Parts: sequence; structure tokens; C-alpha cells
Amino acid sequence: MSTTFTIDTATSRANPTPAPMKRLTVPAIRKRKGANGSGEPLVMLTAYTVRMAQLLDPHCDILLVGDSLGQVIYGLPSTLPVTLDMMCAHGAAVVRGSYHSVVVIDMPFGSYEASPEAAFASAARIMSETGAAAVKLEGGVAMAPTVAFLSERGIPVMGHVGLTPQAVNALGGYGARGRSEAEHAKILADARAIADAGAFAIVAEGILEPLARTITAEVACPVIGIGASAQCDGQVLVTEDMLGLFERTPRFVKTFDDMAGRISAAVETYARDVRSRTFPGVDQTYLPKD
Ligand code: KIV
Repeated sequence: MSTTFTIDTATSRANPTPAPMKRLTVPAIRKRKGANGSGEPLVMLTAYTVRMAQLLDPHCDILLVGDSLGQVIYGLPSTLPVTLDMMCAHGAAVVRGSYHSVVVIDMPFGSYEASPEAAFASAARIMSETGAAAVKLEGGVAMAPTVAFLSERGIPVMGHVGLTPQAVNALGGYGARGRSEAEHAKILADARAIADAGAFAIVAEGILEPLARTITAEVACPVIGIGASAQCDGQVLVTEDMLGLFERTPRFVKTFDDMAGRISAAVETYARDVRSRTFPGVDQTYLPKD
């Protein structure tokens, strides 16, 4: 599947709006790890569509095509039903809509856990069909051999530890992790194992703040927090959450806008204009030329 195409018409919505620029690379992201939190924090957001990618790209270092698209785009009850087909289609759209950010694509549940070889086949498909620079997978110690297998074969891997949504059935919910000593130790061991296996970055989700700080201080690669700590090497949120598109969001989300309210107001005005026949007006109507 081609990942770059242009349509030569001035009105095509597919025309990219941002000016092409040099794309960041995985090694450049890796190098942003600063000693004791001194590096410039990495800015990461999710994107699933070309237009959102175009809007986010100039402001971000990393665009994540998260399997959260299962809930956000498809209204699924969890990330578990998300397929490789979905990730490839949305991943290619985000690559087409971005010039600057490193695009990372989530490996969906069931596409990588069985063996490193199975993971390689899935990751190779994602990389070749989308043009993305890296994949992300969930898990710790048990996934370390897979992270090493992929990394050694030219596929950069971002890890994901702590609250790992694909394991919601095993975890029993989406609550914060790392409250008990045993769980604290397990998550720290998971992060260390994934980093040592060659992950270029790790997402730490939904964990107690001191644990997030310890992981950030101890592993060699950047740690990107979500519900973790301001002292992580970067932050990620689900874009639709931070834009205020949902009524309910996890506690760790800060809403930076009220897009749901603004969309609702705009559509209310549209509906009123249609019903009162004030839309379309002269400016939106093709009239015969004199
Ligand atoms: O799927 C996703 O959006 C994610 C982020 C929440 C890190 O994994």
C-alpha cells in the first residue's frame, strides 16, 4: 500500500497543509534522555486520522497510533478487539499526515504475544504497510525477548508498562498500579527488562508517582508518562481526551479544551440555519454567470 500520494487539485482535502520538514528519528528520540530529568521533555499524543496528524505534527515529537482507537474511533468496549488491519489503515493515514514527528504504531492484542517470530511478522507488516518508524507493545519481563528480537532485526520498539490496557482482564480493571510492594517491584523489573532488551522508549501508564520517578531515574531510555509523573522524560495523552471530546476521562487527563461543547454549539447553529433556510447563503451558492 502506498503511504504517500498527492491529489493535484487545489480543493482536495487530502492536500497536506504543514510545510514538509525533516522528520525526527528514533535515535534522536532516544538521545533526549537527560540525566536526572534534565532533557527537554518529549511531547507525544495519539493520532488516528490524517487531519488530526496534520494538526498535531508541528507541536509533537511522537505521534502514537494507539490501539485506544478501538474505543475512540470504533466505540469498542476495550482495546482487545482491535485488529492489525485497523492499525495498518490508521497508521498509514497518520504517516501521510505528518512530516516531523516519529510515528509509532501499537501492536494490537494477539498479534505479538505468542512468540518473537509472530511479533516480527506482525511488526514487519505494520512497518511496510504504513511507513511508520516504530511499533509499541505492552508487557514487561515476559516480552523482553520479543523486544530484543525485533530491535536486533531493525524494528524499533517502544515498551509499555504499568497499567497495560490489553491485560485489563488479568488486571481486573483500569485502576492505578504499583500500590503494593510486590506490584511496585514487578513494574520496576518490567521496565528494566524492556529497557535492557533494547526498547528505545517506554510508556509508563497509570502508576504511582514515586514509582514513575524511580523508573525514569533507573532506565537508560526515555520514559513517557501517562498518569505517571511530571518528572518522566515526556508525556502522552489520548488527544480526544485532552481536547475534551468525552464526558468521562481518567483522573490523569487534563482537558485543555471543551471540543465537545464547541462542536455541539457549531452543529446547533448549523441545524438552525438549515431549518430557517439561511444556509446555504449567497457565498455558498453557485449562481449563473452574467
Ligand atoms: O493506545 C493508546 O492510546 C496508548 C496510550 C494511552 C499510551 O497506549
